[in-house]
Amino acid sequence: MDEIEIVDSESELESLAGNTEEANGPVDSAEEMKRFYVLAKRQAWKVEQLSWGQIPPIPEGKGSGEMRARRQVIWRSVVTQQLQADLLASKLSAQLLSDINDVPGRLYYSTMVQDEGRHAEAWLRLTNEVGGMSEPDPYLERLGALTLNADTIEEKIWGFQVVYEGLVIDRFRQIASATQGTIIAEICSHLAIDDGVHHGAGVSYEQLLLEHTSPRTRRAITRMSKEMWPIFVDHLLWRPHARSWASSAMRSRDLETIRSSMEQELRLAHKLGLEIETPPGY
Ligand SMILES: [Fe+2]
Ligand SMILES: [Fe+2]
Repeated sequence: MDEIEIVDSESELESLAGNTEEANGPVDSAEEMKRFYVLAKRQAWKVEQLSWGQIPPIPEGKGSGEMRARRQVIWRSVVTQQLQADLLASKLSAQLLSDINDVPGRLYYSTMVQDEGRHAEAWLRLTNEVGGMSEPDPYLERLGALTLNADTIEEKIWGFQVVYEGLVIDRFRQIASATQGTIIAEICSHLAIDDGVHHGAGVSYEQLLLEHTSPRTRRAITRMSKEMWPIFVDHLLWRPHARSWASSAMRSRDLETIRSSMEQELRLAHKLGLEIETPPGY
């Protein structure tokens, strides 16, 4: 359903922009970013549109009080991590908006700042509904710092939009289907679409930048990726203290997530002509 909406908008936008006939010609980067700008504007939504007060914020669960309390801890931790992630995304998209110089690129990034701010707003309200933030994931903060402190726009877009946003889309779809009929499901359905646009725009813009970038910047991306992986693995394996009992039971599923994340990063690197190594042993 979500994918269909995006595809419909894209084909509609192409005819709006009058470039359908040139679709197979060389990619015009300014046109590409205009297209993502219009698409982002069309997909924009409001936090007030969610069914606040009409449906439960997170799944209420069944069974004994103790089991329900355990589930509550899990969902609260999910909400906390998403709030952390979207606060970082707000900072990073604001950096990109101010650092990028071309007009179509800037216009596009002005929509991304609004999207990430809206995501943070939605998570803040949901956090309030579930009793406040729980223990934050320290590795997520470190991953954020690595990207925020990178020297070049190329490294930032690679880490943030190409890799992280590319990986998170499936996660949002999984959460949405596991939590149907709740506010968290509504938020995750919107975020899967928004991050689909952010990831698509990031891949496009990164391709454009890499056409002119120096070997030094390409090496910096390789270095950042290498530094990122051990932290990313710690992030995927991390659980708050209240949930640490689940870690050994979830080990094989966690390892599978790590493996598929690495495969996806390698595919994206190949698509962009970048040299990336992933750590051995997975
Ligand atoms: Fe976001
Ligand atoms: Fe995003």
